[in-house]
Amino acid sequence: MNTANQSSETENAANNDTTHETTTNKNAANENGANENGANRNATGEDISSENAADSDAAGEDVRSESGVGPRRPRRGADSDPALERAFSEPGLRPLPSDVVALLRDLGAPPRLGAHLRAVHHVAVELLDRLGEAVDVDRAAVLFGAATHDIGKVLFPGELTGAGAEHEPAGEALLRSRGVEARLARFAALHGRWERDDATIDELLVTLADKVWKGRREAGLEQKVAEIIAAATGEAVWAVYMRLDDILTAIAGGADDRLAFQARAAASMKRTTTEEDETMI
Ligand SMILES: [Fe+2]
Repeated sequence: MNTANQSSETENAANNDTTHETTTNKNAANENGANENGANRNATGEDISSENAADSDAAGEDVRSESGVGPRRPRRGADSDPALERAFSEPGLRPLPSDVVALLRDLGAPPRLGAHLRAVHHVAVELLDRLGEAVDVDRAAVLFGAATHDIGKVLFPGELTGAGAEHEPAGEALLRSRGVEARLARFAALHGRWERDDATIDELLVTLADKVWKGRREAGLEQKVAEIIAAATGEAVWAVYMRLDDILTAIAGGADDRLAFQARAAASMKRTTTEEDETMI
């Protein structure tokens, strides 16, 4: 079982105290926000499951016995939380790949995690589409990484609303225990480690999607992506950076709606609205 250790931030979408934020946080409680998201071009449900290179097994094993990385027993699909199902089906965002949905159901994922993974996957599709052919990436791998990067929070649900990086190696181990290839499972372990010298463009794009979904801008990360693209295309770094900036600015414009969508999903299973957390992944 592969593991990797890294630190990661808590993605507190309700606390825009990071630099380069573009999110205005308007309409944070807008129940129709996701439907109004200008980025939702495929709200009718584009099936991108064919883009998912996962080979996960949603048969329903006990994760603890296989991975030994967490305390929680996964729940069966038939017992899926209606709130999780709403996170999968609420209009406005592209659907998660069907095998990822099956896995999250089987694991009894908290609804907020399902919503977060769907939002980040949605943004990853948009990012790749906007970048176009200029970037040589493994599209299926990037999208799978976006759809599963925080899956380890099933095992460490406290990291949905608080700091912690235990979910990262745990997520990779969990995916590996379900038969996912190492090259795809690695995103779960590496999405918070973009400053590594050996970070690949695929990994960096997953990380980028995991930030810009909520309007967060990370200049160092964007510079690194621009440098890799420029080296591959022969363009000037500054020109790529400016084009990337335009793309990310456009994507960030839908952040408030995505934040509202995620906030509607409970951070734990079967909880009441009065228990809603202020923080989120
Ligand atoms: Fe995330």
